Amino acid sequence: MGTVNVLVTGGAGFIGSHVAKELIKSNYQVVVLDDLSGGFKRNIPNKVIFIQGSILDEGLIESLFKEYNFQHVFHLAAYAAEGLSHFIRKFNYTNNVIGSINLVNAAVKYNVERFIFTSSIAVYGSGQVPFTEETSPKPKDPYGIAKYAVELDLEAAHLQFGLNYTIFRPHNVYGIGQNLSDPYRNVVGIFMRQILNNTPLTIYGNGEQTRAFTHISSISSAIAQCIEIEATENETYNLGADKSTSINELAAMLLDITNTKNELIHVEARNEVMNAFSNHEKAIQHFGKSDFVSLMSGLKEVWDWAKELELKPTNSFKNIEIQKGIPKNWI
Ligand SMILES: NC(=O)c1ccc[n+]([C@@H]2O[C@H](COP(=O)([O-])OP(=O)(O)OC[C@H]3O[C@@H](n4cnc5c(N)ncnc54)[C@H](O)[C@@H]3O)[C@@H](O)[C@H]2O)c1
Repeated sequence: MGTVNVLVTGGAGFIGSHVAKELIKSNYQVVVLDDLSGGFKRNIPNKVIFIQGSILDEGLIESLFKEYNFQHVFHLAAYAAEGLSHFIRKFNYTNNVIGSINLVNAAVKYNVERFIFTSSIAVYGSGQVPFTEETSPKPKDPYGIAKYAVELDLEAAHLQFGLNYTIFRPHNVYGIGQNLSDPYRNVVGIFMRQILNNTPLTIYGNGEQTRAFTHISSISSAIAQCIEIEATENETYNLGADKSTSINELAAMLLDITNTKNELIHVEARNEVMNAFSNHEKAIQHFGKSDFVSLMSGLKEVWDWAKELELKPTNSFKNIEIQKGIPKNWI
């Protein structure tokens, strides 16, 4: 087999860099396109061709598709600050929908074999848990709406042009390489940063909201592997851990692991889904079981990495579009 070129957008980010590593292990030539808005050069694996640029740059996309003749596109670039997306609606739809559609257009035009898209559990909104792939999506925030719009567009592009796709809906992923400098996401990174800075851990509302925190190893190989499994063509998969943990329990675990006694402060509840977890039977059927790392040992691993890290300053979002009702600690 000659060299097979694949594009990984968001490959300097957390999940994208792990997916890129898996693809390199399988001998693909990986081109990473990332604008470094939320990613880091330190995450980019050796052996990839790194292009710093945006998925909003149609000219750049055109030239990359022309030059590399990608067989597969793994589209992970996005700004995934779900809670903040209410307040940066235009940015959210531009970056996460229009940016995605630029890639879908190029994939159709340049005859890409498969377009792999990381959607999110956010497409389900606050429906009946556990979410299965048959649950009707009803996203409750602009981030989830953007993800669902791209899912629908991929279905339409498949019907119209025969572009094959695989959609993954992961949730609450944590692991080495995640961003600890984003004040809006996600809770594991925010708590770790607060512990490193010796400041109180901020919990929205009573902290009884639950999430199934997912170690990166539970999802990265399935995402990379799907191109080898024909049955996963034009299918959608929930991906992630099964066990739910409350935010209060997560905070207690982190204080225990880090052997610290930071204060916990409960700030005003924000508009968010209380319990979000999904059923993973379909993914297990095609990719096997992958949820092997306990939350405690996964968090210890991330902590060992995080405490050695040179922390970058937090990046406050510059152009908040709507201030009305924004959580006070975000202003
Ligand atoms: N982390 C999670 O729990 C989770 C859960 C479900 C879905 N997802 C999805 O998985 C994907 C990766 O998430 P992550 O947690 O690794 O986030 P991340 O922020 O670490 O990675 C996203 C990357 O995309 C890049 N990016 C953003 N906008 C870009 C643009 N316009 N052009 C080029 N690059 C751009 C960022 O610089 C960053 O490196 C996202 O699509 C996210 O929506 C993440």
